[in-house]
Amino acid sequence: MPDKLDEIINRHLHLQRDNLLPLLQEVQQALGYLSEESINRIGAALNLNTSKIYGVATFYDQFRFEPKGRFHIQICHGTACHIEKSARIIAETERILKIRQGQTTRDGMFSIEVVNCMGACALSPVIAINDKYYSGLQPRDIKGIIDQCKTNEV
Ligand code: FES
Repeated sequence: MPDKLDEIINRHLHLQRDNLLPLLQEVQQALGYLSEESINRIGAALNLNTSKIYGVATFYDQFRFEPKGRFHIQICHGTACHIEKSARIIAETERILKIRQGQTTRDGMFSIEVVNCMGACALSPVIAINDKYYSGLQPRDIKGIIDQCKTNEV
């Protein structure tokens, strides 16, 4: 019986290697990430080598290859947040969680995604954890926010 992934792939069977973006975006939207299985199935359906598909997907920051954590941290790096030094927020979050953007902690608790403008520029720099926004942050605020997530989890 065809599943959601089959449905998506079947709608894009006409795609060529240099135009895989819409398919990859739709798969990520449905699954939350590009799993190894999804890449293999796309390769089989479109008769493409999986390394070519990974080559396309890894070219773009928007794709993740691991499932999101229970706490998915989106860090804005749009212009206003960039001016307010969001790079330091990203670095501090990566340092505390010991993962890079696009990755998920081994325990599946946290993941980091760097995104463009989240529509709250006046409050920059901004992050969101799941759907909760935190604004006007300093790097020193990150540890407390992460600890709060851990506390809420137990
Ligand atoms: S640039 Fe970060 S919210 Fe707009």
